[in-house]
Amino acid sequence: QRPVLRLLSCPGTVAEDLRRDEQPSGSVETGFEDKIPKKRFSEMQNERREQAQRTVLIHCPEKISEKKFLKYLSQHGPINNHFFYESFGLYAVVEFCQKESVRSLQNETHAPSKGMEVAIPFRSRFFNLKLKNQTSERSCVQMSNQLPPSSKKLFEVLCDAESVDDQLNALLKEFQLTEENTKLRYLTCSLIEDIAAAYFPDCVVRPFGSSVNTFGKLGCDLDMFLDLNETRNLSTNKTSGNFLMEFQVKNVPSERIATQKILSVIGECLDNFSPGCVGVQKILNARCPLVRFSHQASGFQCDLTTNNRIALTSSELLYIYGALDSRVRALVFTVRYWARAHSLTSSIPGAWITNFSLTMMVIFFLQTRSPPILPTLDCLQTLADAEDKCIIEGNNCTFVRDLNRIKPSENTETLELLLKEFFEYFGNFAFNKNSINIRQGREQNKPDSSPLYIQNPFETSLNISKNVSQSQLQKFVDLAQESAWILQQEDLGGPSMSGNQPWGLVALLLPSGANRKSLGKKKSRKPASEKVKVLLESIKSNRTENFTNTNGK
Ligand code: CTP
Ligand code: MG
Repeated sequence: QRPVLRLLSCPGTVAEDLRRDEQPSGSVETGFEDKIPKKRFSEMQNERREQAQRTVLIHCPEKISEKKFLKYLSQHGPINNHFFYESFGLYAVVEFCQKESVRSLQNETHAPSKGMEVAIPFRSRFFNLKLKNQTSERSCVQMSNQLPPSSKKLFEVLCDAESVDDQLNALLKEFQLTEENTKLRYLTCSLIEDIAAAYFPDCVVRPFGSSVNTFGKLGCDLDMFLDLNETRNLSTNKTSGNFLMEFQVKNVPSERIATQKILSVIGECLDNFSPGCVGVQKILNARCPLVRFSHQASGFQCDLTTNNRIALTSSELLYIYGALDSRVRALVFTVRYWARAHSLTSSIPGAWITNFSLTMMVIFFLQTRSPPILPTLDCLQTLADAEDKCIIEGNNCTFVRDLNRIKPSENTETLELLLKEFFEYFGNFAFNKNSINIRQGREQNKPDSSPLYIQNPFETSLNISKNVSQSQLQKFVDLAQESAWILQQEDLGGPSMSGNQPWGLVALLLPSGANRKSLGKKKSRKPASEKVKVLLESIKSNRTENFTNTNGK
């Protein structure tokens, strides 16, 4: 069945009858549309959370028979689905059909028999399975991959593509989060929620950021939000007759101090009692206080925050933008990968551009196309109904939540053209005087002298790229100009013209300078063998390796 694209229009700008069953000719079909969620964000989050609550994580012996393993677990109830993966050992994620099965399994589980060390008793949903007879089983399980492809594999895939558009879609396919990886992310949040629930029984730990906003790549960090709203609402809603009952609570002078106290205690708890959570750091003096830790079994680097509802809302907004048009994610993934390949982004915090800022730049760029590929946030606000109304800490976070109410764009530009135009647009952007603003989809005067100013869509007085230095911005501009130029040269050729030479996206990923020398004069290109050598050297170089070994930031 052909996916129906839901694109956009503001009321009054595109006629009602533009809604089509077919994609407009020339629009991109990635083949992954069925992976793009069309549900409301809140619906998707609730469904996945409920699934995760029926799921367990099991560390398995190296050699295990899948059939016997499943038979053994089925004693506790039917299994909905499961998968195995490797991360310093073999792990299984098993989703039961009913929550009761998890309880039944827990009831049958023993505390580990101790040697010299003493176990802190904790009944979690993270288990260790041992074989009574070590030698009888043979390993025969299929592994689900949780890692991004190596640069070598990616280059092979890109070289096999038939067009630049194919290359961008292939890159997306290689890097996007898989169904299994997404399940593992929700499960990890759910396991952390169990810990936090020891203090706050009605809390919810929700993933946000790239894990859920459709722009996550394999290996990206896991941003979590400890939502205590339910707990807070309990103390305000229950009134009856002339009486008002309140909980006795401790009071602190500010919201920030409350956040710091809560995170401090949860951090201690994760450090002391939570199996698999290591390297716990409390970063409580940051603008947005957080607890950072590594969840060993899943391999995720986790950032836990609380009182961070706006970030969850911005994830929801990005989710909508990512789901509206199949070109958006392909372009965002490509720009992020390109930036990482040229060390414009880094896993270390600093003066670099972040993935989040790059995503905003792509969204903004797509809003400026004619006709626009993405609607402005103001436009999404006008489409909102009463249910969508949302004010957080005095900030207007109202926008339409139902994807089906956003009309198709008529724009049919190819990814190749968009990529080239993206580089041209930002290679020539007046960063010295203008800011980027997805609320209006128009350049605005910069309110301060930060080199790069990207307005936070909800906290509109904040600049999401305040950290970026002038030299990092200049590096971005130089590389954007060079990349636009390379793609212009390519217009003359294409894969069929290039023989063994790197072309399209591959040429853009080579170290800067390599291209200028070799592609500078179309007619005096280096011999194919030499170009391939450059490519292979770049694959081998640390620099190129770096960009697949980091967590994508
Ligand atoms: N965020 C924000 N303002 C910032 C930085 C982050 O509002 N200056 C919010 C965004 O909602 C962002 C989330 O916090 O998506 C998580 O931040 P981060 O992990 O830095 O970005 P991701 O979008 O998750 O991308 P990455 O894959 O690099 O982790
Ligand atoms: Mg993140």
